[in-house]
Amino acid sequence: MSDYPSFIRNIHKNTGVDLSLYKEAQMKRRLTSLRDKKGYKDFHSYYKALEGDTQLKDELLDRMTINVSEFYRNHKRFEVLENKVIPELLRRKKRLKIWSAACSTGEEPYTLAMILDQHMSLSDVDIIGTDLDQKALEKAETGVYHERSLKEVTTFMKHKNFVKEGPHFKVKENIRRSVTFKRHNLLADPYEQNCDLIVCRNVMIYFTDEAKQRMYRAFNESLTDRGIFFVGSTEQMFSPGQFGFKMFDTFFYQKA
Ligand SMILES: C[S@@+](CC[C@H](N)C(=O)[O-])C[C@H]1O[C@@H](n2cnc3c(N)ncnc32)[C@H](O)[C@@H]1O
Repeated sequence: MSDYPSFIRNIHKNTGVDLSLYKEAQMKRRLTSLRDKKGYKDFHSYYKALEGDTQLKDELLDRMTINVSEFYRNHKRFEVLENKVIPELLRRKKRLKIWSAACSTGEEPYTLAMILDQHMSLSDVDIIGTDLDQKALEKAETGVYHERSLKEVTTFMKHKNFVKEGPHFKVKENIRRSVTFKRHNLLADPYEQNCDLIVCRNVMIYFTDEAKQRMYRAFNESLTDRGIFFVGSTEQMFSPGQFGFKMFDTFFYQKA
């Protein structure tokens, strides 16, 4: 019999991360390959070893979080955000609260800050970037990126918002200061409240349908009246009405 189910139960107890809410085939494949690489023949002996070994545990958490991100990821969607979503939000309110959930190393909340800076004073916006992965958040706070993360950034925005440091680019201080980073587990922790815009992209694909549906409801409750929910380009919500949303634009939903 497979010892994977008891492994994920133990990991849940030990780290608070419930792997049963991630799509099983994909997660099991990733963790089996890491386990084999580390030289353990089954999940039982692997768990016994990582129970007392912080580094081994961190490597496991690192493997299950996929941190790939970039500025203006799928830039056409950010054009819609800038030209349609932000005007809609600013028509009603002068102060905005924005949550970039599962923000990885910070490219997404910083992109939001750079766009908002074109439309309003950043002192009138709270941007919160959260992720499960503490290491990713540390990198986010530093705000230093390799050029490849900036390939969708226009020359104008690059000059305006970054300082070149050797082969790297550092996000300017006014942008960095406008984002607050916090650790947050989307499957276990209470959600931010009173958000006007929630951006949660390229993480829900890893979750089971049941977990996703629970998150849609929780995000809906987190939003202010007519707030907007922005998802990734493979993460369309089927029957948004069931979760209290209506379609606003492709990959954007509005609290109904
Ligand atoms: C592929 S990145 C997405 C980054 C960014 N949103 C984007 O679209 O470019 C996925 C992120 O989800 C985070 N993640 C995975 N499970 C999570 C959970 N249960 N709660 C919060 N974040 C989680 C990972 O740590 C990783 O940084």
